[in-house]
Amino acid sequence: MKAIIVTDRTAGIPGMRLVDRPDPDVARLASLDGASYGDVVVEVHASGFTGNELDWPSTWTDREGRDRSPTIPGHEVAGVVTALSYGAAGLAVGQRVFGLADWTRDGSLAEYAVVEARNLAPLPGDVDFVTGAGVAMTGLTAWQGLFEHGRLTAGQTVLVHGAAGAVGSMAAQLARDAGAYVVGTGRASHRLAALDFGANEFLDLENDDLDDAAGVDLVFDVFGGDIGRRSVALVRPGGTFVTVAGPPEVRPTDARSVDFVVVSDRAQLTEIAHRVRTGRVRPHIGRVAELADAASALDPATRAPGKTVIRIRP
Ligand SMILES: NC(=O)c1ccc[n+]([C@@H]2O[C@H](COP(=O)([O-])OP(=O)(O)OC[C@H]3O[C@@H](n4cnc5c(N)ncnc54)[C@H](OP(=O)(O)O)[C@@H]3O)[C@@H](O)[C@H]2O)c1
Repeated sequence: MKAIIVTDRTAGIPGMRLVDRPDPDVARLASLDGASYGDVVVEVHASGFTGNELDWPSTWTDREGRDRSPTIPGHEVAGVVTALSYGAAGLAVGQRVFGLADWTRDGSLAEYAVVEARNLAPLPGDVDFVTGAGVAMTGLTAWQGLFEHGRLTAGQTVLVHGAAGAVGSMAAQLARDAGAYVVGTGRASHRLAALDFGANEFLDLENDDLDDAAGVDLVFDVFGGDIGRRSVALVRPGGTFVTVAGPPEVRPTDARSVDFVVVSDRAQLTEIAHRVRTGRVRPHIGRVAELADAASALDPATRAPGKTVIRIRP
């Protein structure tokens, strides 16, 4: 199969190379040998890659911490199940699926990926594969940040940082859809996009005063650093600060603080797919590129706003 591999941590995205790799060993997968219990083979139609994946330790090692390079990156996947192992529950051969490939195994920038069945959900027939790949990571991250960790409820106010970005635009839409009041942030040039993606109001981080948003029930942070640090104080007593940018340098004294890494969840993927197909949310998909062009499409210096999706099959 054709696949993108990375071999050198220091080379970054320009170090991605398109190569031929062996297809998944379907006979072994279907047998009771080895550790493939619960896996399925996905014929990948579309793949997504998160910008800093090549910095994650799990991109380079297995669960035991052993070097596993060269590795196939890209952990957002949409495609069709072509083989099942023993114990692969809830999916069938020929089924359209989407979800997240395991962090510590080869990913989806390839013609086939082996993924644990529990990390995939059925992709409805009226949601295309590019949308499926584009919404898996962004939708799950937003969902978990808002509702699981952030405990957001209707009538509350949430500050969503980066509301014109891939994750932030999903968070703004899901929060608004759930009946929350959404203050989106971003660069001055993001105002219209953020409002279009569901923010009730917009705070321009280049010109407005962040402190004007003080007293919110929930901050959903994607930045960390100085903005993340200053945002901690915006949460009302008893509220929640949630970040996906790593452990916060400062924690609120009278509010909850959660930093988390997204996990795949079939029930949540199903909820997200339902909202996509009924038009309640729309993923912010930027450039759609072919596998051979993945390195240039994903290059942060030139990439388009929104989620870049790599189309593996037409
Ligand atoms: N922990 C987890 O489980 C998890 C899961 C998914 C994503 N993440 C992380 O979440 C972050 C966001 O991901 P994403 O895919 O949404 O990225 P993205 O699409 O690039 O979105 C970020 C948005 O914030 C804007 N922005 C960046 N720096 C800014 C600044 N200083 N002031 C104002 N706006 C700024 C960006 O604008 P420009 O494009 O103009 O810079 C963009 O609109 C990434 O760091 C990613 O690694 C974490």
